[in-house]
This record gives sequence, C-alpha cells and structure tokens, in this order.
Amino acid sequence: MKEVPRYLVNFSLARLPREETDILIIGSGIAGLYTALKAAGRCRVAIVTKDDPGKCATDLAQGGIAAALGEADSVELHVQDTLAAGAGLSDPAAAAVLAAEGPGRVRELMDWGIPFDYQGGRLALGQEGAHSRRRILHAGGDATGAAIWQGLAARAAGEKNIRILPETMVLDLLVAGGECYGALVLTPDGSLRAVLARATVLASGGAGRLYPVTTNPAVATGDGLAMAYRAGAEVMDLEFYQFHPTVLVHPGSHGFLITEAVRGEGAVLRNQAGERFMPGYHPSAELAPRDVVARAIAREMARQGSGSVFLDLTHLDGKLVERRFPTITSTCRRLGLDPRRDWLPVAPAAHYHMGGVRTDLSGRTSIESLYAGGEAACTGVHGANRLASNSLLEGVVFTGRIADDLLNRKLRHFTTHGLEYNGLREGGPALEEAGAAVPAIMQRRVGLARDAEGLAEAAAALEVHWPLLDYPARGRREAEVRNLLLLARLLTRAAAWRRESRGAHYRTDFPEPDAAYRKRLVLARGKEDREIPV
Ligand code: SIN
Repeated sequence: MKEVPRYLVNFSLARLPREETDILIIGSGIAGLYTALKAAGRCRVAIVTKDDPGKCATDLAQGGIAAALGEADSVELHVQDTLAAGAGLSDPAAAAVLAAEGPGRVRELMDWGIPFDYQGGRLALGQEGAHSRRRILHAGGDATGAAIWQGLAARAAGEKNIRILPETMVLDLLVAGGECYGALVLTPDGSLRAVLARATVLASGGAGRLYPVTTNPAVATGDGLAMAYRAGAEVMDLEFYQFHPTVLVHPGSHGFLITEAVRGEGAVLRNQAGERFMPGYHPSAELAPRDVVARAIAREMARQGSGSVFLDLTHLDGKLVERRFPTITSTCRRLGLDPRRDWLPVAPAAHYHMGGVRTDLSGRTSIESLYAGGEAACTGVHGANRLASNSLLEGVVFTGRIADDLLNRKLRHFTTHGLEYNGLREGGPALEEAGAAVPAIMQRRVGLARDAEGLAEAAAALEVHWPLLDYPARGRREAEVRNLLLLARLLTRAAAWRRESRGAHYRTDFPEPDAAYRKRLVLARGKEDREIPV
C-alpha cells in the first residue's frame, strides 16, 4: 500500500511568514479551551481554530458530564462502568485517572461559574446507558455542552495570554528530528503561514464527517488525527467508531441528537409496529451500552425495511420533558413534532471516535513536544465503546494533565531546521467525487456492521481516490477531503485486522469477542503495524 505523502502542501519554511508562541493549541472545544486556561498563567497560548470558535462538538453536547459526585456513587463504580462499557479493551489505569480526577475537575468548572442544574438544593444528576448510578451533571436541561463552552470561552476572552485565531486551518505539524515545532496554517485569506511553538496540543475533536449522517459539526473532519499520522505519530484503536442510537430522522434536520438522558428518564424505543423491542435484546433494555442499543435499532430497521424506529416519551410527565429537555422540545416543535404527543423517529448516526492519537496519561504523544487531548486523543480509556458522558469529562481530566505536564517541564527553544517539502505534484484532479464517495463508502461498508468482503471492497473503492493525495491542497475543503480519505483508509485497515466483534466494532463474519484480540492496533506512518496487549 502506497504511503500517504508527508505534507498537504509544498513549502519552504524560510520563505513563509511566521509567528511564535509558547503553546499552540489546535481546536477550540472543551479540550482546547481548558488546556489554554490552565496553561495561560505562565505561558503565551495561541488557539488556532478553523471556523468560528463556537462551532465545535462541545457546543452540541446535550446529556452532560459524568462524575462520581452523588451520595450513592463512588469512583470505583464509575471505573467499573467505564471498563464494562469498554468491552475488555479500556486501559484500567486511564479509567482510574478519569473517574478519580473527574470530581475535582468538575468542581473547578462549578467554581468557574458553569451553571449546572440543581434540584431541591442538590446537584441534579441524570441517568444514561450503562451507568450503574445517576451521575450525569447537566446544565440548561439538555444544553450542557453549550453552557460549558460559553463559560470557558468567556473566561478565555479575559486572559491576556490567550489569543484565538479563528478561521485558520492547521494543515500540518512541523516536525523535525522527532520534535514538533508548531504547525503550518492556512490563514483566513488563504495564504500559508507558520506558527512556531515550544509545545503543540492537538485538541481538534473527532471525525464524524467520515459518515453521511453524524451528530458532529461540519468541522469534524479528523484533521488532527490525519496530520498527526502524516507527521509520524502513533495512532490507535481506529476501528472503534461509536454510533449514537437516537438521532432524529427528519427532512428538516440533519444529525440532531436526542440525548440518551431521555431514555434515562424513562423514554422507550418502539419499532414500526409500535412494539417495544429493547427488553428482548439486553437486560438493561433502553439503558444497555450504546453499541448494543444502536445495533438493536439497526436490526429492527432492517427487519422491517424502515429508515427509523421511534423514541416514545409520550408517557412521561410533559412538564418534566419541557423543563429537562428544552433544546429537544423546541427543535422538535419547530419541525412539527411534539415529544409529549408524538413518537420521535430516530436512527443511529456517527457520534464519537474512540480511536485517536496515542497518548500516555499526561497526553504526550510519540512525538516530542506534541500532545493530544479530547476526542482527537486515544488514552485507551474508552476501549471499544465509550461510556455515555465520559467525553466532556475526558476533555477536562486529561487536558488538565497536559497543562500540568507543560507547566512542569522546561519548554525547549525554537529551532526551525530550515524545513521544506517538495513532494507534491502541481495541479490535481477534481475533488467533488472523493468528497462525496468517502462517507458513502464508510456508511455502506465500514459502519455499524462490517465483514471481510465489505471491508476489502471499501479498501478498493478508497484506493481509487488515493492519487488525489499526490497533489497539494489548495484550500480548507481540499485539505478536509484529503484528511477524511486518509482516515477512511486507516479505519478500514484497522477494522479488517480485528477479526472479532467487540464494543462498537461489529463483524458479521466474526460475531463474538475473541480473547486473542484483547490487544490494540497501533499504526504509524512508515512503520510496521504494532499490536499491544491490553
Ligand atoms: C447524549 O447526550 O446522549 C450524548 C452524550 C455522550 O455522547 O456522551
């Protein structure tokens, strides 16, 4: 298989305009903002974000942030639930860090003024799938992510050491001699620029746009993961892509999430015949782990030849539904649906990538001075299936550790190494075809259910578009499509390697877990694939 070219563009660093900062953060969601806020006391921080800073997955998160803060809860129970959802592939040390440090980080968010919901003078704790206790803090009912993002963004705006560069897309990481020196960026006017940094943090979120329907925002094209791979960083667990079970199916909405917390309050799933089906699939019924619910829905849809099942909230107290889920209620009403009266048509859609850039528990990657946090990273904590509402938590726990690590080490001085690259040809084929083909291939062959034949077909179909990568990206969309094409190919390769079913990775030709696969696949550009035991 031909390797991907190292960079998306030809360049000579000596000829590029440049700026310098102590810490470059790529991404403006919870992971990027929290790292910046924790580091800004002692470092100059530049946050580069390719769109408006608020257009991030954090802003769309509904359900909440999990933390063992309830009276009947404990760190041990949170660890147990995280490991159980991860289907034997979560790293126990990472799960212990997440659960143990979570309450402290969440209390800090409270101290910073994030308005979590209270009921009867106590924190209101929601219930979601595969949690053995109510432990999901929420804000504005179902607007948790937006409340957190606004709080962090307002705080960042008041920090003189934090500078946000919006509408600036990072194309590639500048790496020489195994060290990262910052990144090449595309400025809002389309020109190339170098941002040199003493340390770089990837907080660029996920890659939901690999699939045609996703809960992710338009910016989620896996740029961080793709650029890290091109730079030689280790990436891991790529085959595990989580589909959220309940995404609204309506011509007037695309990828609108109906939070799992709705099922936590008692909503049930019904098929087209009106039958409640989840009790037949799992003892926890609607609150089974996400992968189980998503596959059950897909099976019911296939059995009945329909494009959706229904989420039924009509038996719940209408006042509670309006108060607890105001975003969902108002969005549905705008579309002519009333959750108090109508069953909501839903289907699974791409939601969260468990795989990412491999890091240790301090967020360090395999490249010196390059860190990764949030969805772009893979600490191993989520294993084969992320526990609901552990992602906002990961976005503060592990990035808090990144900031600690940055502040406790001596950041090295800039060396620019006269980097240049001329490996790409001029010109290039039209892009539209690959842009549309990648999500279609992924949905058909590398979606909720996979098999060897389909994965081979996907690999061959992706190969057709590979020559595109020999030409430079001339703008944001061209860079995004190249990143998606690369990730699609890596994800397909990892899915073909894992000849078993585990968590979110379901193989119809190997429908059971296989103990021989209690290991993870680590990929790195130009290196042999590596298998590491859990
Ligand atoms: C949800 O609210 O159902 C999504 C939360 C998550 O993905 O963790």
